Amino acid sequence: MKPLLLLGILCTTCAAAPQDLSGKMFTFPKESISSGVKLIPSETQITSVTLCQRYLTDLRRDHVLFSLATPSFFNALMLMWVEGQKSIFTYVKNAESQFDNQDRKLNTWHSVCFTWESSTGIAQLWLDSKPSVRRFLLSGWNINERSMIIILGQEQDSHGGSFSASQSFLGMVADVHMWSYVLSPGQIRAYTDGRKFTPGDVINWKALEYRIFGRVLIENKSWKQDVTSCSIAGI
Ligand SMILES: *[C@@H]1O[C@H](CO)[C@@H](O)[C@H](O)[C@H]1NC(C)=O
Repeated sequence: MKPLLLLGILCTTCAAAPQDLSGKMFTFPKESISSGVKLIPSETQITSVTLCQRYLTDLRRDHVLFSLATPSFFNALMLMWVEGQKSIFTYVKNAESQFDNQDRKLNTWHSVCFTWESSTGIAQLWLDSKPSVRRFLLSGWNINERSMIIILGQEQDSHGGSFSASQSFLGMVADVHMWSYVLSPGQIRAYTDGRKFTPGDVINWKALEYRIFGRVLIENKSWKQDVTSCSIAGI
């Protein structure tokens, strides 16, 4: 009886075990309202935040990059490309801050990092290591990790739903990390350049718990497309 019981426990653990997605990417191959990836955060209170991810797309319309909703705030933490302004709109607790004139190319891997510090309310965006202005967004808030729903590929207009195809993401996403604090510029450059960095304590691509829904694939990331990541092979 005893070994069987142990096996049962082990398998339960296996099913829920976070996965190391190093060298992999999520492929979102089709515009839809039914495909995405739900990321399960570690239980860490978020008082400040850094969010980094890499992505490649050929969309010439608005599209979501990251969507975190709570029951009260559907844009608790959200990043959205807005085509008209060539801008990345960022949201914390539904408050909006736009970072205009971003030098984003289609069919190219980009690294985007967003930082927000609760005590000062200062937000900043980094696209491929290029820092934006530091702009006041909103201060004195923290996000309860138990109420968060985090989704890649779809923008939540309710807590965990109300998606729209016209804001959905099509392309590839990799190396998603989220920290409960603000990374230094040096640490952000290390992430962008594919050098050694401390993985996210809220979301860690190297130990990722996730649920895919609809048509999303996990595939090997082609390093040749991402010049800035070549150095990873040397570590
Ligand atoms: C993906 O990468 C792994 C590890 O490098 C390799 O073993 C596997 O063959 C690759 N799969 C494909 C489909 O290229």
